[in-house]
Amino acid sequence: MTRGMSQEWIAGLFADPELLRMGHHQRAEDQNLGLGWLYYAFGRIVRPRLAVVVGSWRGFAPIMFAKALQDNLEQGEVVFIDPSLADDFWKDAGRVKDYFRQHGVGNIRHFPMTTQQFVTTADYRALGKLGLVFIDGLHTEAQASFDYAAFSPLLETRGFVMLHDSMIVRPDKVYGSEKAYGMSVKLFVDRLKQDPSLQLLDLPFGHTGVTLLRKLDEEATRDPYDWLDGGPR
Ligand SMILES: C[S@@+](CC[C@H](N)C(=O)[O-])C[C@H]1O[C@@H](n2cnc3c(N)ncnc32)[C@H](O)[C@@H]1O
Repeated sequence: MTRGMSQEWIAGLFADPELLRMGHHQRAEDQNLGLGWLYYAFGRIVRPRLAVVVGSWRGFAPIMFAKALQDNLEQGEVVFIDPSLADDFWKDAGRVKDYFRQHGVGNIRHFPMTTQQFVTTADYRALGKLGLVFIDGLHTEAQASFDYAAFSPLLETRGFVMLHDSMIVRPDKVYGSEKAYGMSVKLFVDRLKQDPSLQLLDLPFGHTGVTLLRKLDEEATRDPYDWLDGGPR
């Protein structure tokens, strides 16, 4: 599979109008990945062995992270957790694998289950450190809090958590109008912002924004000159 972002690869992605949806600030007219550039860039900068993505409509975010990790020398992998509650799209394992391969990525391991189910598995216990965590499952304060509690303890020192749909409280009808519920990830993000051991930055793009989070861990008390990129050169 070819390395890097080509016009052809982006055109192939946007040939499917579903990959232009869901609030990632994409635009087909100028082959603009919107927040996808950011997801890809973080994958190339952090260069993690492993990233976790919780929830996706048609895989836009997992594909962006997977492309980045596959383009890195480290050949990282994306663990993608989605029980396919919106429709049947993620139900058939063979189809899911083919779909991602068709978009040029072969490094996504999909788990067709909720985060609540995933944390009970041996795969969860075997994860090890995570460089990137993207939280985009059920958009409630309670679920975002559960997802964060499940994966943030595994974050690498220079890792990042991203919470999607994090700036607006409003009704969400992605599971059908009869199953409309209140989107309230922002309320969880507002709580995290009170924690002095965290840095958070809202990015007001897409329909409902995305928030970046970094932990101020033990390295924060040391002079960055001593540890950034392995110390002084
Ligand atoms: C439809 S997406 C939301 C759209 C998203 N903003 C995007 O960019 O694609 C939300 C996904 O979260 C998944 N989901 C819902 N509850 C979940 C849970 N408890 N754990 C993991 N995934 C969940 C659903 O199956 C659904 O596919």
